[in-house]
Amino acid sequence: MHFLLLVGARPNFMKMAPVLAALKARGARTTLVHTGQHYDAKMSDVFFDELGLPAPDVHLNVGSGTHAEQTAKVMLALEPVLVRERPDVLVVAGDVNSTLAGALVAAKLLIPIAHVEAGLRSFDWAMPEEVNRVVVDRLSALLFTPSRDGDDNLRKEGAAEERIVFVGNAMIDSLLTHLPRARARDVHARLQLEPKKYALATLHRPSNVDSPEALLRVLTALSEVAAQLTVLLPVHPRTQARITQDPQAAALLARTPALRLCEPLGYLDFLALTDGARLVMTDSGGIQEETTALGVPCLTLRENTERPITVDVGTNQLTGSDPARVVPAARAILAGQVKASRIPELWDGHAGERMADALVRFVKARA
Ligand code: UD1
Repeated sequence: MHFLLLVGARPNFMKMAPVLAALKARGARTTLVHTGQHYDAKMSDVFFDELGLPAPDVHLNVGSGTHAEQTAKVMLALEPVLVRERPDVLVVAGDVNSTLAGALVAAKLLIPIAHVEAGLRSFDWAMPEEVNRVVVDRLSALLFTPSRDGDDNLRKEGAAEERIVFVGNAMIDSLLTHLPRARARDVHARLQLEPKKYALATLHRPSNVDSPEALLRVLTALSEVAAQLTVLLPVHPRTQARITQDPQAAALLARTPALRLCEPLGYLDFLALTDGARLVMTDSGGIQEETTALGVPCLTLRENTERPITVDVGTNQLTGSDPARVVPAARAILAGQVKASRIPELWDGHAGERMADALVRFVKARA
């Protein structure tokens, strides 16, 4: 029984680590392939180290590019690997370009695909990830959903019931495994932050950072919150490139020292800082889930989310990026008006095991 697991970008690593560990524990043969979509040490290597992921068996070294370039480069590099290895299943995770490319190649080679984090929908076709999610799900034999809304979305799109497997959230497996180590870190002292006396922010969505107007709006929102408490913003390379090119954004940051920028952080430091934050403001997908799992208030700086469970039962609120909405929402949280929340169903640390069991069953049934 042979599974090929494909990862490429930062948010893939914490979703795939629990699946890989659980497959190995069941004695399955695994091949880990890294596309190289993310390649900086701070975007990739540190996650492998801290999550205990083994070095990839195969590295495709594709790097950055336009959407078409990046997707095509992964497809060209992956095809001979899949032809050579002929795994029983290709396992892909999340919604990045590497995920899409992997699914397209495997589908044409008639290799069954399993999708970790299936069924999520923002219904916003301007997001490249929405295109990736819908296409990957359409091509996948096994659809591993993190929440019941995913099952409903897939049913509405006509997915057969036997393809849908509600397993819970693999990213939360990693969070629960590594939280004790994260809490033991000295990152608060290193950054001179006092737990519960700062906000943590992240920004990288093209809709927030790619145009100067959007970037200025969202940085203005963060700077106004920074008038209340220190806001730490670890800066994604995409965002850093935009800030560097934009004198207005750079000037705003220069006059707002309480909005503190730092380099991208490793998994454990970021988890520790999320856990210790009074408030998180983000346009990320996964951080909406991590804050819900930790019970930390989260403002999502987007107009929609593919993770509605974090709003329905978790700590998340959608505010968009307009300061007129973000700042009052932040102020309410700082005044103690915190939304009641609970942990979603099956976000219990065992999603990877459930996926490994389903994968083994799937291959046995086809033998
Ligand atoms: C990608 C995913 C996004 C995910 C995000 C997490 C797609 C379509 N997007 O967006 O869904 O939320 O990863 O981070 O797949 N760069 C570096 N070093 C790196 C990687 C990238 O400097 O290691 C720079 C390059 O200039 C690159 C830019 O960041 O052009 C964007 O990288 P890319 O992988 O294209 O998209 P992300 O914005 O990271």
